[in-house]
Amino acid sequence: MYKTGELIERLSNEHSLSLEEYAFLIKERTPEAATELASLADKKRREVYGTDVYIRGLIEISNYCVNDCLYCGIRRSNKACDRYRLTPEEILLCCKEGYKLGFRTFVMQGGEDPYYTDDLLCELISEVKSQYPDCAVTLSLGERSRESYEMLFKAGADRYLLRHETYDKEHYEKLHPSSMSWDNRMKCLRELRQIGYQVGCGFMVESPFQSEKELAEDLKFIEEFKPDMCGIGPFISHKDTPFKDEPSGGCDLTCYLLSIIRLIYPNILLPSTTALGTIDPMGREKGLKAGANVVMPNLSPVGVRKKYELYDNKICTGEEASECIECLRGRINRAGYKMVTDRGDIKR
Ligand code: SAM
Ligand code: FES
Repeated sequence: MYKTGELIERLSNEHSLSLEEYAFLIKERTPEAATELASLADKKRREVYGTDVYIRGLIEISNYCVNDCLYCGIRRSNKACDRYRLTPEEILLCCKEGYKLGFRTFVMQGGEDPYYTDDLLCELISEVKSQYPDCAVTLSLGERSRESYEMLFKAGADRYLLRHETYDKEHYEKLHPSSMSWDNRMKCLRELRQIGYQVGCGFMVESPFQSEKELAEDLKFIEEFKPDMCGIGPFISHKDTPFKDEPSGGCDLTCYLLSIIRLIYPNILLPSTTALGTIDPMGREKGLKAGANVVMPNLSPVGVRKKYELYDNKICTGEEASECIECLRGRINRAGYKMVTDRGDIKR
């Protein structure tokens, strides 16, 4: 049988393990292994990024969604969800506020909402890039056609976040209705990369039906695909979804996986997510100490924040952007890192 200590050492030196070895490392997780992984991961992140923590201003542009993912609070079938969408003018105001606060990346995220046509988005992206040429624009708007991705890229979008959710096709089918396709999601990720975007993938930790087997597949995928960014956070149940009674994921396993991902790909951009801060009051600090180097505070207007409720009890829905950034700056400092004003591109 494998020995955990030997696997950790090899992962740290060779940045690769077999599927079986990843699964073993996850199954045999102990507090000692977690401490060892976190310390190696933190060392690697300091070699590449020092103590810098990059910030991304998250603008939740719409909670209308044509999809019906079983885990998600803004799924189409959730009739209790109070829907909203931001106009281009409102989004530009968020960017204005964000720029003043030191953000140099704006992330426009939303449900898959046909209101945001290619023409509307291209015009908006061009406007943001002309007003803020020193900023990066990241999109997280789900699955679109290759032509659409190409148009948005030409208009100036730099990055695209599309979590793969799970690399196991059978598992994917248990988390999504039959109208959604794992093959298409993977195709989108490959196309985004070919077009020239900096690409982010990612998955939920301890989503329903997930075991170490599926997580090992996610890790192997990250090792092979080498995304510029990987967003992981615990699955958190939402009261108005079919998964309302499923247990939520934990902070410890999420941090353990963050450390492993940092060791697989030392240069990767790794956010310590809002979901991690929701499941544990010190979650974001723990994530940073485990190897994460990005945080994504909310820049959406306070009036709509509560409505973008992907899961129950999401934090930071009542605070102004300026309050969150000051709160986070303190948290980051106390954890031993430094928030920087920077586009925060991946270091190659
Ligand atoms: N519509 C876009 C997409 O599909 O990529 C972006 C928005 S989507 C709501 C953003 C991410 O939220 C998803 O990729 C999913 O991983 C995460 N998410 C949704 N519901 C969640 C839940 N209940 N717990 C934790 N994360 C969740
Ligand atoms: Fe939003 Fe602390 S980060 S209140």
